Amino acid sequence: MSGKAWGGVFDQPTDARVEKFTESISFDHRLAAVDIRGSQAHARMLSSVGLISAEECSQIVETLEKIGAEIERGQMEWTTELEDIHMHIESSLIARIGDVGRKLHTARSRNDQVATDLKLYLRDAIKVLDGLLHELQKAFVDRCRTDADVVLPGFTHLQRAQPVMAGHYWLAYCEKFQRDRERLADCLKRVNILPLGAAALAGTSLRIDRWESARLLGFDDVAANSLDVSSDRDFLAEAIFCMSLIAVHLSGWAEEWILWCTTEFGFLKLPDTYTTGSSIMPQKRNPDVLELIRGKSARVIGDVQQILVLLKGLPLAYNRDLQEDKLAFFDAFDTVRACLEIAPGIASRAMLQVETINARLEEGFLDATTLMEYLINKGVPMRTAHEVVGKLVRSCESKKCRLVDLPLPELQQACNQIQADVSEFLGVENVVCRLSSFGCGGRLAVAERVTVWRERLSL
Ligand code: ARG
Repeated sequence: MSGKAWGGVFDQPTDARVEKFTESISFDHRLAAVDIRGSQAHARMLSSVGLISAEECSQIVETLEKIGAEIERGQMEWTTELEDIHMHIESSLIARIGDVGRKLHTARSRNDQVATDLKLYLRDAIKVLDGLLHELQKAFVDRCRTDADVVLPGFTHLQRAQPVMAGHYWLAYCEKFQRDRERLADCLKRVNILPLGAAALAGTSLRIDRWESARLLGFDDVAANSLDVSSDRDFLAEAIFCMSLIAVHLSGWAEEWILWCTTEFGFLKLPDTYTTGSSIMPQKRNPDVLELIRGKSARVIGDVQQILVLLKGLPLAYNRDLQEDKLAFFDAFDTVRACLEIAPGIASRAMLQVETINARLEEGFLDATTLMEYLINKGVPMRTAHEVVGKLVRSCESKKCRLVDLPLPELQQACNQIQADVSEFLGVENVVCRLSSFGCGGRLAVAERVTVWRERLSL
């Protein structure tokens, strides 16, 4: 029965079309290195409990090492006849060391094997993503050095709202990416529970030591229900969700900077190295990289849907549907990784167009809320203060002037609590000097936060 591991019960070979349809080697070959790591640990565990001898164990471990090196050099040929990476590695082992190799799969099923492989792979993937997020945070915090004194108009509904220090803006993204890192770290807790030893679904009658496997592979604990863990992919769904949220964060940022690069905004200029031209319009500098970061988030969001729909309605325990989990996972990981690799370059090189920003900074009544707060401090009820300032803004609009341009008598006519000191509350600079609540975008508070972030990222 060719090289099939289940040949015993069959008397007819698999239809070639079925082989092609059911294979996963075309995409799960990426698990080769972790599959070998897992198998080596499994062999060591088998030897520690006496299910194989120490000699057999070293033969298996060493041969697996060689197979791994060959795969890494691209010397292993993949064939759909061997279905997946697990079968490829095991049959290569058996081809080399015969009966000893035939012992490796003792007390193991591909079900607990592939779940373990995925967790090992994901553990590394999380480390990679965490490192990249850290780099991106550093790029943002570093902006605080050069652009420390710049004041930006803050927006809600994309309408001018209140001013904030530029540092507040850079750090806002650091916070988002910090949550992304914490989410991944939390996900890791559930990744670090060992499936190996669950075997197909029911565990095994052989006397294995799952804690030894966990120790060897660096898992924190051993899964306590074989039926559950042999088919559990919650950890993968969680991880893909974490990645999709990273993609969503990147997408919002990209969209913002695409807007900021327009002539209409003019807040940012991208370096030539991060823009592309047009084949017909000679003047164009297009933010394609940012557009693709925005666009690629669609794929990752799609991957979350894919894994959830894949898992929906699956009866316990393993079902072959699960083989498709890797497609969603690898796509999400590759996509988010690529975006995170390119993002710091843009984050640190995009040039803030301070002159353009400053030229219109006093437009849009960014000081209106602070004027309202001035009135509140004078004892005016908030709703009344809101109305007074609203009316003053309307008067400015008809006169085409700023709040600071209104003569004191007119201000006092609107509200007799207003005194000459009101001038210290108007204008963008006064506002950023007065914003003082914890976590606000004011000058002093932001300077403190920049220090906190520098220390946190050891910059
Ligand atoms: N290639 C399979 C997968 O990725 C491995 C597990 C196969 N298990 C089975 N019972 N057929 O899910």
